[in-house]
Amino acid sequence: MTLDISSVLQGGYNHPLSRQWQSRRGLDKSMFMYPIFITDDPTTCVEISSLPGQCRWGVDRLEGFIGPLVKKGLKSVILFGVPLTCEKDGRGNPADDPQGPVILAIRKLRELFPTLFIATDVCLCEYTSHGHCGILHEDGTINAVPSAERIAEVALAYAQAGAHCVAPSDMMDGRVKAIKRKLIDNGLGNKCLLMSYSAKFASGLYGPFRDAAGSAPSFGDRKCYQLPPSAKGLARRAIQRDTVEGADIIMVKPALPYLDVLADAAQLAPDYPLAAYQVSGEYAMIVAGARAGVYDLRVMAFETTESIVRAGATLILSYFTPQFLDWL
Ligand code: PBG
Ligand code: ZN
Repeated sequence: MTLDISSVLQGGYNHPLSRQWQSRRGLDKSMFMYPIFITDDPTTCVEISSLPGQCRWGVDRLEGFIGPLVKKGLKSVILFGVPLTCEKDGRGNPADDPQGPVILAIRKLRELFPTLFIATDVCLCEYTSHGHCGILHEDGTINAVPSAERIAEVALAYAQAGAHCVAPSDMMDGRVKAIKRKLIDNGLGNKCLLMSYSAKFASGLYGPFRDAAGSAPSFGDRKCYQLPPSAKGLARRAIQRDTVEGADIIMVKPALPYLDVLADAAQLAPDYPLAAYQVSGEYAMIVAGARAGVYDLRVMAFETTESIVRAGATLILSYFTPQFLDWL
């Protein structure tokens, strides 16, 4: 049997370099944003059991933790606050406490690493008594207007403390517009980037994060603000809405089960950087599979990340960031 000319593809990727030419964009270190958990005991470093290899860090430990990563080429981090001793309430007041872990960490990292890009997750769930991401009515439903207003207030506090980027993950209606307005009115419209968790789905993959951040809701779930997993149309509308409301970067989250949404975002918002969050449960799944001998960790870290880039992401929030700094 002879092969037809049209059957033969393998000649095109026979060499390591020609294989590299087959991807539109390769991975590079600047595509990675590293999520880190900051807690309120300044001297601590506690491993998070459901997120192997990741810790809750105290502000005084950041130099020793982040310093070597910056030397290896770390370009950006996203901070999550994990207050353990604060007084949580209905409005999430501790979120913008000037002595809270996130604001202290922003200041500290700006001072220690002047070239590091510092993003901050903006949400209330780590700080509310009920563990929901917004402010609630008496009956436990979301009160949209004060929620967006409160989120904007918190975002402004982080921007004023020196964050280069604020990233609302709360999914309240109107928050992107409220944040952008607040930044502009306070002279930060041209200094602080707004990355919106635009298509954030109500996923089973946030478990390890909620464990790490102590942010699980005390009743109910997040289905009235995070998107239903099969809602492709709603995701497309959320992406379009956020571009109109003033987002500078659009995010899809989680990543791997939602690559079609990522590809949609690339088509709907071609002029925006596009972020994908490979979330805690995706990370834990990859690590667990590797430990069970199902596959090699590095192979799967690359394969999933390359898939995310192939689908259209230009930026990846990844717990594998430190490893990629060694691998790339
Ligand atoms: C808080 C928030 C969550 C994540 C990022 N910000 C959890 C949630 O919405 O319940 C998940 C990140 C991860 O799983 O790695 N709103
Ligand atoms: Zn939240």
